[in-house]
Amino acid sequence: MKTLGYYNGDTAEICDMRVPMNDRACWFGDGVYEAALAANGVIFALEDHINRLFRSASMLEIDVPLGKAELKELLVSLLKKVESSVNFVYWQLTRGTADRSHAFPENPKTNLWVTIKPFTMPDLRQKIKLITVEDTRFLHCNIKTLNLLPNVMASEKAKKAGAKEAVFHRAERVTECSHSNIHILKNSVLRTAPADNFILAGITRAHILQCCPVLGIKAEEKAFTITDMMTADEVFISGTTSFCTAADHINGIPVGGRDPGLLKKIQDFLLDKFNKETI
Ligand code: PDD
Repeated sequence: MKTLGYYNGDTAEICDMRVPMNDRACWFGDGVYEAALAANGVIFALEDHINRLFRSASMLEIDVPLGKAELKELLVSLLKKVESSVNFVYWQLTRGTADRSHAFPENPKTNLWVTIKPFTMPDLRQKIKLITVEDTRFLHCNIKTLNLLPNVMASEKAKKAGAKEAVFHRAERVTECSHSNIHILKNSVLRTAPADNFILAGITRAHILQCCPVLGIKAEEKAFTITDMMTADEVFISGTTSFCTAADHINGIPVGGRDPGLLKKIQDFLLDKFNKETI
């Protein structure tokens, strides 16, 4: 198989899959998801992704129909069905299938969706352009839900502006990006927004925070402002697919580029971790 679609036990190429219209993902985006990378049959940071999925599901009272070990086994077995050695692995749980009615259905039976598709590793030497967008999202950004419309709108705005990502801000405070977290380096200190309800606690963000003591970098989980970002030594985003990618322009204004050595140490740490753990 080139790509894989899985729905409650059925598998096929994703374009050949059919799912029930009454799946609550279709009516309400009523579900939670995870996205991970895999190489050589190993799903990177799978434990972290599974734990976050269980946390998200529990916050929305979505029942997880299988145990953590069972889910891991299933994902790894599905990975064996695709040809490519480097893949994007996505899975979501939705609150069952029922006629459209807002409140939870009686005894909902959770649906499990999985898709796996080939992935090309990013070139981390390539810098990206960002734009800023007002963060109009709800107050549950810590839950990895399927409700991503403001993220979709912001991402499209970035694309139209020739940028790679949109940076959300609430007034002066920078929160995160449409599908990644954002961090700055200033005077050799790493600053990242606290893991509160305004951001998704990214797994790549957690890995960056873990690498700081190892690399002798002081890290602060403290909100920063647009001005802090525009005047930082380096500005970079992080996420499962972007790893740790630096920006060179925000809203067309040059930013960062003043601490390339420290930035590269963090990038190398993340890539090494990925390569070592997916052999
Ligand atoms: N997005 N913030 C948001 C809003 C995200 O959607 C993501 C990930 C992140 C970074 O999280 P992590 O390091 O765990 O990937 C932060 C995924 C990749 C997606 O939606 O495809």
